[in-house]
Amino acid sequence: MVERETWATRTGFILAAVGSAVGLGNIWRFPFVTGEGGGAAFLLVYLLFVALVGFPAILVEFVVGRKTERNPVGALIELGGNAWKYVGGIFIVTGFVILSFYSVVAGWFIRYFLEGLRGSYASHLAGYEDAAAEVGEPAALLMFGDLSVGLDAFFFHTIFMAVTIGVVALGIRQGIELAVKVMVPAIVVLLVGMAVWVFTLPEAGAGYEYYLSPEFGVIADNWMELLPAAAGQAFFTLSLGMGVMITYASYLGEDRNLAKDGTAIIGFDTGIAFLTGLVVFPIFFSAGITEPGDGGPGAIFVSMTEAFATIPGGHLIGLLFFGTVAIAALSSAISLLEVVTAYVIDEKGVERWKAALGMGGVIYLLGVPVTYDLIFLDLLDGFADGVLLVFGALMLVILVGWITPKLAVRELEKGIGDLGSLGTAWIWAIRVPILVVLVVTLALGVVEY
Ligand code: PHE
Ligand code: NA
Repeated sequence: MVERETWATRTGFILAAVGSAVGLGNIWRFPFVTGEGGGAAFLLVYLLFVALVGFPAILVEFVVGRKTERNPVGALIELGGNAWKYVGGIFIVTGFVILSFYSVVAGWFIRYFLEGLRGSYASHLAGYEDAAAEVGEPAALLMFGDLSVGLDAFFFHTIFMAVTIGVVALGIRQGIELAVKVMVPAIVVLLVGMAVWVFTLPEAGAGYEYYLSPEFGVIADNWMELLPAAAGQAFFTLSLGMGVMITYASYLGEDRNLAKDGTAIIGFDTGIAFLTGLVVFPIFFSAGITEPGDGGPGAIFVSMTEAFATIPGGHLIGLLFFGTVAIAALSSAISLLEVVTAYVIDEKGVERWKAALGMGGVIYLLGVPVTYDLIFLDLLDGFADGVLLVFGALMLVILVGWITPKLAVRELEKGIGDLGSLGTAWIWAIRVPILVVLVVTLALGVVEY
C-alpha cells in the first residue's frame, strides 16, 4: 500500500472541513427549507439541532477518522467488526445520491454567473416581464424556471462534475487545500455587504419578523415535520452522517484539538447560513413574495436576481455572488467525491485518478435525470437528507457511544488533555438522549418521505 497522504499545513484540515461544510447547504438549501418550514420556527429547531446534536456528532466523526486513519468503510470495520461494512456501504451510497443532485444545483450557479457576463440581471429580468404579468408570477421565478432544467442544466452539470473529478483525481494536497483558501472569506464579505443593503428595503421588517420571531405554538403543532426537516438540514449543512468528517480527520495528526476545530467549523457554517437568511427573507417580502415557502429550490435565485436587478452595482455584485457560491459548492462536491474515492483506493487498491473518474462518472449519470425534471431533485434530496444522513449519524453514535466509548474519549483527549467528566458527559449524551432523538427523527423522516 502507498503511504497515506496527510494535510500539508496545519490549517489544511480546518480549511478543507470548512470548505466541505460551507456550500449549497447554507446558501441554496437553507433559505428554501426555512421558507417551507415557516421561517423562524424552523430556524429555532434547526439551531437547537446544530448545537445539541451536530456538535457531539461532528466529534464522533473526527475521533473515528483520526483513530483509524481509514476511509469511512475501513474505519467502521476496524472499530466495529466486519458487519459494519454494510453501514459504511450506506455512506458511499449517500455520497452518490447527494453529489448527483448537488452538481446540478451547482451548475445553476455557474449558469447565473454566465448570465451576468452576458448582460445585466436587470436586463434579463426585463425580458420576462411581459410573460410574468400574464401569469401573475415574479419575473425572476420565470427566469429560474427557464434556466434550471433542460439542455442548459445538463451542460453545466457536466462542466461542474468534470471539474470536481479533476480536483479529486489530483489528490489531497494539490487539489483540495488550495481550492478552499480564498472563498470562505469572500462569501462572508459578500453576505455581510448584502445584509447591510437589505436593511434599507421597504419591507425588510416583515422579512426579519418572519425569519426571526418564532411562534412557539407553530413548533408545538408542527414538530413532526419540523424535526426531520431541521435534522436533515443540520446534517446536510455540516457534512455529517456520511463520513466526510471521518475521511478528512483520517488525514490528521494527533496534535489538533478536535473540540476547538469542531466549534470553529460549526460556527462558520451556521453563521453563513444565518446571514443568508438575513439577506433572502427581507428581499422576498420587499418583492411581494409573502409566502417564502413557495420559492422552492429557486428561492435564492429568485431573491438574488431581484436584488441584483435593483441595487446600484448589482450587476457586478451578482457576478461575484454567483461565482463565489459556485466555487464554494466545488469544495463541498470535492469532499463528497473524496469519500467515495478514498473508499475505492483504500479498500480496492485502485489508483486515485481511476477511482475518481469511475465513481465520478457514475454519479454524473445519476444526476442527469435531475436536469430534466426537478421532481428528481426532490426525490434524491429528500431521501438523502431526511433518511440516509440521519441513519448514518445514528449508526456512528451507536458505534462510538456503545461499542468503543473508551477509545473514543482517549482519542478526543489527544490534543486537548484530560477531559475528566466532560468526556463521560459526551459519551452519555450520545448514548441516550441523542440516540433517542435520532431514532425518533429517522422514524418521522421515513414516514414523511
Ligand atoms: N455541507 C455541504 C453544504 O452545505 C453539503 C455536503 C453534505 C457536503 C454532505 C458533504 C457531505 O453544501
Ligand atoms: Na453547509
